[in-house]
Amino acid sequence: MPLVNTKQMFKDAYEGKYAVGAFNVDILTQCQAALEAAEECNSPIILSFSSGSRDFFHPGNIKDILLIAAKDIHIPWAIHLDHGKSFEVCKSCIDEGFTSVMIDASAYDFEENVRITKQVVEYAHAHGATVEGELGPCSRKDDPRFKKFTDPEMVKEFVERTGVDSLAVSMGTKHGLAKFEEGEEVTLQFDLIDEVARLLPGFPLVLHGSSSIPDEYLHIFNDYGGELKGTKGVPEELLRKVAKTAVCKINIGTDFRVAFVGGLRKSLTEIKDKFEPRNFLVPARELSKKLVKEKLSNVFQSSNKVSRI
Ligand code: G3H
Ligand code: ZN
Repeated sequence: MPLVNTKQMFKDAYEGKYAVGAFNVDILTQCQAALEAAEECNSPIILSFSSGSRDFFHPGNIKDILLIAAKDIHIPWAIHLDHGKSFEVCKSCIDEGFTSVMIDASAYDFEENVRITKQVVEYAHAHGATVEGELGPCSRKDDPRFKKFTDPEMVKEFVERTGVDSLAVSMGTKHGLAKFEEGEEVTLQFDLIDEVARLLPGFPLVLHGSSSIPDEYLHIFNDYGGELKGTKGVPEELLRKVAKTAVCKINIGTDFRVAFVGGLRKSLTEIKDKFEPRNFLVPARELSKKLVKEKLSNVFQSSNKVSRI
């Protein structure tokens, strides 16, 4: 049961030129899908809870529940708070046993972001947890330094002043289903990543909003009564390239949810004569597990890369 923080995971990923997949979960069946996929790929994995997912899943006992569920899992895995908005929520997750937290104070100006992030880092490090921060273009549009993408010099200052373990920066992606306009050319800021790697050698960056919305899973979702329209994600080719850079963690929420609920829609439509929940949840688990395995091996290139603990 190697539940770990992200320190060694990211060091190995940086040196090994691959990325660790972080998947957003709401329920135990999704956690099992992700953990089993990682175990079969021999990849590290991060289970990400938003504050809402945590409240829904079981605030207070997530670590205990997952330790039991992961008793046969031998790859390194982490329990992570995604987009924590305050010191208090981060503290509460660390107290509960999360091994990693994200403090997303990017809605504040630079100085306030530094102050809050530093406060979380001090508490987390004293309790063995690691911290991901977020630095948007410059946190606020009314700041004269506002640009479309994050400034590498500001990344350096932010990391040095906060002591944060990894950082999400704005490099060309967005959250959700409709990331780009139809016909829009999708690019990622590889120069920005290279510049951060030059200024802060070995420092891990994080890519948010990384779902690709693959046709296979979207079709299953829509063929069984779904109506997801106007979707456009990040091409997997770009993710394959970025996984080899200083980007050590790639976040997938949308794709994992679409695969799981697509599998559920299919089983609910096709199975007419059964009523045990497992008959419907198993196909959802298997379809979402297939997606995770494809991401880990074909996109993030993390299969067979873990140091077994
Ligand atoms: O924090 C979560 C991820 O950044 C989700 O990204 O919407 O592309 O799946 P996504
Ligand atoms: Zn995100």
